[in-house]
Amino acid sequence: MHRISLKAPRGRRATGDRNFRSPARSVPRAARARPRLPGPPGDVGAAGYGGAVPEPVIAARDLVKRYRAKGKPDFVAVDGLSFEVAPGESFGLLGPNGAGKSTTMKMIGAVSTRSAGELRILGLDPDHYGPEIRSRLGVIPQQDNLDAELNARENLYVYGRYFGLPGKVCAQKADELLAFAQLEDKATSKVEQLSGGMKRRLTIARGLINDPRILLLDEPTTGLDPQARHVLWDRLFRLKERGTTLVLTTHYMDEAEQLCDRLIVVDKGRIMAEGSPAALIRAHSSREVLEVRFGSDRNEEAARSLEGVGDRVEVLPDRVLVYAHDGEAALERVVAAGHTPLTSLVRRSSLEDVFLRLTGRSLIE
Ligand SMILES: Nc1ncnc2c1ncn2[C@@H]1O[C@H](COP(=O)(O)OP(=O)(O)OP(=O)(O)O)[C@@H](O)[C@H]1O
Ligand SMILES: [Mg+2]
Repeated sequence: MHRISLKAPRGRRATGDRNFRSPARSVPRAARARPRLPGPPGDVGAAGYGGAVPEPVIAARDLVKRYRAKGKPDFVAVDGLSFEVAPGESFGLLGPNGAGKSTTMKMIGAVSTRSAGELRILGLDPDHYGPEIRSRLGVIPQQDNLDAELNARENLYVYGRYFGLPGKVCAQKADELLAFAQLEDKATSKVEQLSGGMKRRLTIARGLINDPRILLLDEPTTGLDPQARHVLWDRLFRLKERGTTLVLTTHYMDEAEQLCDRLIVVDKGRIMAEGSPAALIRAHSSREVLEVRFGSDRNEEAARSLEGVGDRVEVLPDRVLVYAHDGEAALERVVAAGHTPLTSLVRRSSLEDVFLRLTGRSLIE
């Protein structure tokens, strides 16, 4: 049986110095002295100073976040992440609870300061250009924070006003976004009267009020039923088609596979692997997986005798996974060896298998 090393391989260092030019060289003095707040919607989408879109739109190098804890050593939630996101890309952070995904998103969103490392959002350092960065981002936090006092339409309108958009523009955008989120018939409903999926769609609509270049989505579909998830995925596809850069966190392998051009697998604040979903699966798993169940008290023992049936064997509490190029052929070998599984299933490898291989743990805990 394959024993998984728990030692974390370090992620590829993706960035070079050229990506961390001092903004002082590219930003006019007036803008440095007095951060510009967003103008009308057409304006907030611009990359800013000079109009050129910096490439990459997000660049992190050795990014660290430490939390102070009284009487204890600092807790390192993000431990040296390096990655880049290109304009129009859909980039994912995939990892289990506590991996540091939300902490990273908060640093990208310029609402939490980094403890060490380099970070540039649209070419700007969030330590110095928080308001500019925030005005150009759409943020969908992990927890919906809609205003319960207001109805759906008012939530959008008021948020637009917060960004300094004129009332008329806010009203028009609110209607457009209600249509985009398929919430037209809920325009005057109070937030508490909306279902979980509707609240999530409204939060995403609200995040789009300033025509953001980059949309940060922290667990966009957690807790939603499959149909609501598919509606949301469709909306996100449309945004991607329009050229919006998407950065999302998720626990869901299928979501990452559906939405992400590229992703990093994060565990304990570190990058375990980076690549497109297909490339990660190719690099870290076999083509197919045979799942066999022998009964919870027999899986361990059966797995020991399945050595050599496939490329690798893993035991989960409820089943044994046999990694093989041809799962059906592996099943024939299991049966030929005298085993009678209670159930068997052959499937393609997924990002879940990648995560299991890299960390020795299942992503769904
Ligand atoms: N304000 C804080 N103070 C101290 N520790 C924190 C704080 N925020 C987060 N942490 C810790 O940092 C680690 C990473 O948390 P984070 O919320 O980034 O994880 P996550 O990957 O988003 O997890 P989840 O999938 O559960 O949302 C956790 O151990 C968490 O307890
Ligand atoms: Mg989180």
